[in-house]
Amino acid sequence: KRHLISAADLTRDDAILVLDTAEEMARVADRPIKKLPTLRGRTVVNLFFEDSTRTRISFEAAAKRLSADVINFSAKGSSVSKGESLKDTALTLEAMGADAVVIRHHFSGAPHRLATSGWINASVVNAGDGTHEHPTQALLDALTMRRHLSGVGRDLEGRRITIVGDVLHSRVARSNVLLLTTLGAEVTLVAPPTLLPIGVETWPCRVSYDLDAVLATSDAVMMLRVQRERMNAAFFPTEREYARRYGLDGLRMAALPEHAIVMHPGPMNRGMEITAEVADSPRCTAVEQVANGVSTRMAVLYLLLGGSEPAIAPAARPDN
Ligand code: CP
Repeated sequence: KRHLISAADLTRDDAILVLDTAEEMARVADRPIKKLPTLRGRTVVNLFFEDSTRTRISFEAAAKRLSADVINFSAKGSSVSKGESLKDTALTLEAMGADAVVIRHHFSGAPHRLATSGWINASVVNAGDGTHEHPTQALLDALTMRRHLSGVGRDLEGRRITIVGDVLHSRVARSNVLLLTTLGAEVTLVAPPTLLPIGVETWPCRVSYDLDAVLATSDAVMMLRVQRERMNAAFFPTEREYARRYGLDGLRMAALPEHAIVMHPGPMNRGMEITAEVADSPRCTAVEQVANGVSTRMAVLYLLLGGSEPAIAPAARPDN
């Protein structure tokens, strides 16, 4: 079985195959009938132990557009709240014949455990584990950057990407650093020293504490959500002080090169890491990132489950 647990699992060729396949899947969304028969008869389980809006809905939409049967499992309201373990939950899914399990969990490493435990015989996709990784978010972010910065079909070689904010708690930042460097981009992290993880100096990127110093040379600026739910209340940064040093407002956005885009994985803390003016501006790709998430997840499910027929039959290609 093949799994997607970490962005580090992907070689440059793997990543480009996912992105190119996602571009093909995006063409399906432009057709009057958005569905493909490729995963008919397959079962995809969305196993969410932690809250989600975008990731859960887009995996569901992606699986349905590939004609898979979808089972949505939310820990809230399930027997997990009675103390049922991950193992027994997994054995239950196995008994129901899951072909792929998309898992979000508050523990870093839970998807890896599920993939290597032998409890299930399904492909495992990490939909965000604790503060560790969120590889499909990094892929949809790369798709968005590639569309704006390189044109379809090319990679991000030499592009300068700045990731700003609560890196300490961000699985999005870690997956993006890994994937973007695999694709040849140069990544700079900008954060207060207290919101950088121990060992960040070993990551394949630069680190800065000064947002204003890097704006003019950034092709994309990705703002991270300040994750208060993962912080001890005593360490909450004050909104005003954080926004003054690390928030993106209209003035800072004006310092970016004309072609540069502003990204945010969502959900956003408007007024903290990003002002409403920037979030709602045409340069902000947050909503486009969500749309790209569906085609990216279609590509991941298709490539992992190896659909019984080509994703898009030649006759169905819009350019034929
Ligand atoms: N970007 C992201 O993972 O959003 P959700 O938590 O809403 O899925």
